[in-house]
Amino acid sequence: MQAWSHACKKAKQGIGFVPTMGNLHDGHLALVDKAKVLADKVVVSIYVNPTQFGENEDFDKYPRTEQQDMERLEQKNVAVVFMPDTDEMYPPNKKIDFIPVPDFARELEGAARPEHFRGVATIVKKLFDAVLPEHAIFGEKDFQQCLVVKNMVLEYALDVEIHTAPIVRDADGLAKSSRNQYLTAEQRLQAPALYQSLLTARQQILEGKLDYSEIESQAIEFISKESFDVDYFTIRDATTLGQPGTHNRVILTAARLGIPRLLDNLRVD
Ligand code: PAF
Repeated sequence: MQAWSHACKKAKQGIGFVPTMGNLHDGHLALVDKAKVLADKVVVSIYVNPTQFGENEDFDKYPRTEQQDMERLEQKNVAVVFMPDTDEMYPPNKKIDFIPVPDFARELEGAARPEHFRGVATIVKKLFDAVLPEHAIFGEKDFQQCLVVKNMVLEYALDVEIHTAPIVRDADGLAKSSRNQYLTAEQRLQAPALYQSLLTARQQILEGKLDYSEIESQAIEFISKESFDVDYFTIRDATTLGQPGTHNRVILTAARLGIPRLLDNLRVD
């Protein structure tokens, strides 16, 4: 991978990189489209990274659809699909030196999945070291992940520009996600309520309602009535994830519908 990337650099061709765990949907393909605009060559990685899954999470059953993914990427004309083995990413018999994550990575997703972000930061750094991209593109559905990656790039002065791309949604508003396929037919019908709750909260904020905690509790009540078990629904500053002011806000939510856990978010401003 590095040899190819060095050859590109020598030929003055910029590399745009889209890291994925495969099972590609239209959200991933929108990232590829963005990469194509930014760079001469596009590299997509497919690697289901074990260190970002908790012990009781879905690493083993995470959908692996390599053949179908390759076909979709071929249609997009990407230059390289990088599919490393775990032995390459995590050399055996070697203790993993995890990339440390900032405090904001310990709440929200970090609280629900304590080792998740250090696993994400570590694999993204390793993938950057292999692919040597000028540009890397991440989906905004994983809003907190985008901030963790941006933070790492700043902290380590990595020579890569991070871009984000908007959430791609189904017609009824459900954010595209590989994990949506875990939903039963009945849950799939209930699932758009999560996006509805975000839209309602945003509307209330834009109408000038300043009691954010009341907006949050009303939303939690609404989603819970729709059979969700809410993990968090919170209005935050979109850069720091700290307490929100009167601009640059984001609303973030995660909730379980039976076993599947759905994430979504909406920028207010
Ligand atoms: O967003 C994902 O699919 C993963 O967290 C990533 C960035 C590919 C790292 O494994």
